[in-house]
Amino acid sequence: MADEAVFDKAKAFTQLMVRHLEGAAVSIMLEVGRRVGLFEAMAQMDAVTSAEIAAKTGLSERYVREWLAAMVCGGIVEYVAGDRTYRLPREHAAGLTGSSSRNLTGMAEMFPLMSRVIPDVVEAFRTGRGVPYSAYQPDFTGLMDRRSRPRYEELLFSAYLAKPAGLLPRLESGIRVADVGCGTGHCISLMARRFPTSTFVGYDISEDGIAEARASARGLANASFVVQDVGRLEAPAPFDLITAFDAIHDQADPAGVLSRIRAVLAPGGMFVMVDVWASSELADNVGVPMAPYLYTISTMHCMSVSLAGGGPGLGTAWGHQVATAMLRAAGFTDVQLFERVDPANSLYVARAGG
Ligand SMILES: C[S@@+](CC[C@H](N)C(=O)[O-])C[C@H]1O[C@@H](n2cnc3c(N)ncnc32)[C@H](O)[C@@H]1O
Repeated sequence: MADEAVFDKAKAFTQLMVRHLEGAAVSIMLEVGRRVGLFEAMAQMDAVTSAEIAAKTGLSERYVREWLAAMVCGGIVEYVAGDRTYRLPREHAAGLTGSSSRNLTGMAEMFPLMSRVIPDVVEAFRTGRGVPYSAYQPDFTGLMDRRSRPRYEELLFSAYLAKPAGLLPRLESGIRVADVGCGTGHCISLMARRFPTSTFVGYDISEDGIAEARASARGLANASFVVQDVGRLEAPAPFDLITAFDAIHDQADPAGVLSRIRAVLAPGGMFVMVDVWASSELADNVGVPMAPYLYTISTMHCMSVSLAGGGPGLGTAWGHQVATAMLRAAGFTDVQLFERVDPANSLYVARAGG
């Protein structure tokens, strides 16, 4: 390579590295801002000084001013130098505030938890062993709940349960439903409220998650929750529908879990799986927005928790080719894939033959 080409490539790479480092720095400040409520406060204010923001939030002006400087340089907050005023534009506030899935600050909430387990993951690189779920608790359950709750409220009925042909009428008529890896059970609660003639049970290995699920579903007579390793799932009677939301790729025994799901489905029953959109081929994911995030979360959590349980460590980007093949290998006769049922996930609808 000519000297000039080498120089240009090195320069372009340095610029790329600078953008990565800036993004990481801004992400830390996003999480700080979210925790202290600065985005929510600024969304209610017009152009204001740091002192006015500090007064409104009850925070230290010096800290607020330094945080604002990071936000201004990161392109998140606008600054008028003459007045020393700061403004969070309405268009930016839409992506930083509120309880809808448009609020992207929840994505940055993952970083402190992932950073906390860096020593465990570094050790795992050396041993090849994983990092157990317990290393992420007690924070993981709540964080997962905050991240996924808005999406389920927006999309559970309009997309995830609407796509499989004939499913909504069956839920209305009264069927037996299980959700595996239910976490805090929000999907079960939503479904149990909407379909009072169907019965719902949520399974999760996390005692915290199940305790919270039971508390928030109190009063719902058709919903129950069980602490259960779904790799050993047995059912008193077959289910007509089993759902899994973001709960298969990080399993210690994903093939075994899919087989158990197939085994406890009634003939003609349906398995609805929502899992991260990705191709199983790395080359297909290059350049896809958020792909570095997926592989990072995978290394820092999803792959590692599976490996910790002696599993295959499929990883967050196990992808639709592997997922579809595994569903077929588990004995499902008809596997449909709806790619990108939301910006980050695909929907799989698999039927148990009669
Ligand atoms: C990524 S979280 C998703 C939780 C929830 N479905 C959601 O979308 O918010 C994966 C869940 O699977 C649960 N899980 C992992 N392995 C499990 C197993 N073998 N049996 C039951 N639950 C398991 C975890 O405790 C966790 O709550």
